[in-house]
Amino acid sequence: MKVNGKNYTSIWIEENNNVFIIDQRWLPHEFKIVELKNINDFSTAIKDMWVRGAPLIGVTAAFAFAKSMETDNSDNTLIETKKNLLLTRPTAVNLQWAVKIMFDLLSNTKKENRLDEAFKKAKTILEEDIYSNFRIGENGYEVVKKILNKKKSNSLNVLTHCNAGWLATVDWGTATSPIYYAKEKGIDVHVFVDETRPRNQGAQLTTWELLHNNISHDLIVDNAGGHLMQHNEIDLVIVGSDRTSANGDVCNKVGTYLKALAAYDNNIPFYVALPSSTIDWNIRDGIKDIPIEERDTNEVNFVQGKDENMNIINVDIAPEGTKSRNPAFDVTPARLVSGLITEHGVFEANFESLKNLKLISEG
Ligand code: MRU
Repeated sequence: MKVNGKNYTSIWIEENNNVFIIDQRWLPHEFKIVELKNINDFSTAIKDMWVRGAPLIGVTAAFAFAKSMETDNSDNTLIETKKNLLLTRPTAVNLQWAVKIMFDLLSNTKKENRLDEAFKKAKTILEEDIYSNFRIGENGYEVVKKILNKKKSNSLNVLTHCNAGWLATVDWGTATSPIYYAKEKGIDVHVFVDETRPRNQGAQLTTWELLHNNISHDLIVDNAGGHLMQHNEIDLVIVGSDRTSANGDVCNKVGTYLKALAAYDNNIPFYVALPSSTIDWNIRDGIKDIPIEERDTNEVNFVQGKDENMNIINVDIAPEGTKSRNPAFDVTPARLVSGLITEHGVFEANFESLKNLKLISEG
């Protein structure tokens, strides 16, 4: 998607297999590009959220294997790379998905071929992510059309939570892909963006993306969504997912569950956009079994912003010494989900419907 009129992806590879990312910690204030050179760079980038968002975490992990093989193609390096990556972030299943694909492939590849095979596979995972997200846009547009037909209008008001945009994937985004697609098709789209405390991915990243891609939007505080829904200002809620269980429970950024409850109470469609790589087929009860990341409590007690001298600073917002908790995700039960928009079509959030998706995605 566009940044200042120029096309970017969130991660890319240049000649000599150099891997670059947009360092998302500094957006929207500073646009910084960083090269990731070795496994320490990759692990830190994932853990400290230079890159974030489930699909992008998966793609980054795939390139971590490729760069590791550049340094040393031994079995030991393969095992260490896997171990390091799995310690970074526990919730987004795309990490484990990509690690398994890369580890299994390279373990079964002769040492001298590992480097080439690793880059080939990582590039395929990157390309497939772009394609899947584009397809999510097309499939999500069918949902949008139904809502607009019912409404007898060409204008759509969407609420989204966190950043499930192109910055969370390689390109297009998941939740934002139908939004970009609908705009291309001439729909008058407006997006309400939850700020998404504690790290403010909505305020800092989603607004930035939408701004650079000419999508009309308003930033709202996390608790405003229910009020807007009660006053018919929202036609559709659409979010992403970090892990969806085989029965359709959706784990996403903390606060998503409350939006789903409010949408349900107000009879507003609540859709989740996700590539099939985000489904954990081994989990049948998302609330019980999806591991929820607990992050540093400083993220709750401090807020990042820019001061009058244009320096990026963290501001303390609670009395010194205040204890806090920071669960980074929550699980929305399947019963509150109107549908799952995937690269293979729109599926109901239940075990029977997702069984069909599994068959299609396993080819
Ligand atoms: O903690 P983050 O910023 O990695 O969380 C991201 C989200 O919760 C996204 O909504 C999710 O990964 C879907 S991304 C397409």
